[in-house]
Amino acid sequence: MSGGITLTRHIMTKSATAIPATDLALIMERIELIAKRIARELAMAGLSGELGYTGETNVQGEKVKKLDQWGNQVFLDAFEHGYPVCSLISEEMDEPHHYSVNYRDNSYCILYDPIDGSSNTDVNGSLGTIFAVKKRAPGHSNGIDDILVPGTQQLIAGYILYGPAAQLVYTAGAGVDIFTLDRTLGEFMLWKENVKMPAHGSTYAVNQANASKWHEEARKFLAHITSRKDKRTSYSLRYCGAFAADFHRCLLEGGIYMYPGEVAEGGKAKGKLRLMYELAPLSMLAEQAGGRGSTGKNRILDIVATAIHERHPIYIGSAEEVALAESFKVEG
Ligand code: F6P
Repeated sequence: MSGGITLTRHIMTKSATAIPATDLALIMERIELIAKRIARELAMAGLSGELGYTGETNVQGEKVKKLDQWGNQVFLDAFEHGYPVCSLISEEMDEPHHYSVNYRDNSYCILYDPIDGSSNTDVNGSLGTIFAVKKRAPGHSNGIDDILVPGTQQLIAGYILYGPAAQLVYTAGAGVDIFTLDRTLGEFMLWKENVKMPAHGSTYAVNQANASKWHEEARKFLAHITSRKDKRTSYSLRYCGAFAADFHRCLLEGGIYMYPGEVAEGGKAKGKLRLMYELAPLSMLAEQAGGRGSTGKNRILDIVATAIHERHPIYIGSAEEVALAESFKVEG
């Protein structure tokens, strides 16, 4: 037990964050509410008829699940009364959403994937919510050039993991802290603070069934990590199919998650995961914990986005395994 430190209380003790303390508290209070609502809904979704597809296809060409749409609405509702946030960018919306009461100064944009790992919704598998916060330029319009800036300019990044326990993991640039939802109290309680990712791990997470579509370099990297025999350089495959869940294992135990680009005709040339609300937030967490996030050639946090839904290949996790992947020049 951590002695009963709630998320709210812990945030009040945070210093050295790049975002002012009051704004951090106001935004995290909304995120915490969203986390509790989604955790509650996911526990009951099967019984309340929230599973399955809506019948629509999103801007990324993916079939929309009912929970994806519902989760997006939870964010829209929460930040409707969410000063100082004026803009939302979501995996589930083609365009950014700007509130009609639009704060032109001292305001923020939330970038998020409300339900990460949607293929797990109908099988009671682990799911996540990924989010990041960026500052809007003073006097901004509803344009988003000031939001396409690199991930180094994220002020907050985090995720909520809905597994056997619901956990909220976040950084405001001053270390990574993990909170676990005590469902009887209805509070996220501090579980671990200033978490450090092991520099080396013994697991890799990837959809290996796609290997024949990858670049040769990525296949060579896979062959390398699956052919080592001594104890330190042997790896086990662990893949949940939810980025936040697979990253969580890397954060706590080390190892690597990857989603390479594909060269096969009709393949995902840039991989599958989106920069602004998947790769950049988790790369900030990785770096804050001493790990790394890379395309295989470049640091994820240095990429300037050209569009809100753009994708990049990803190799993320322990510093040692990410450097090993880079040594194969694995970018897709
Ligand atoms: O958001 C994309 C995502 O659902 C990730 O959470 C997950 O890691 C990945 O897709 C799984 O993709 P695939 O089904 O191709 O393995």
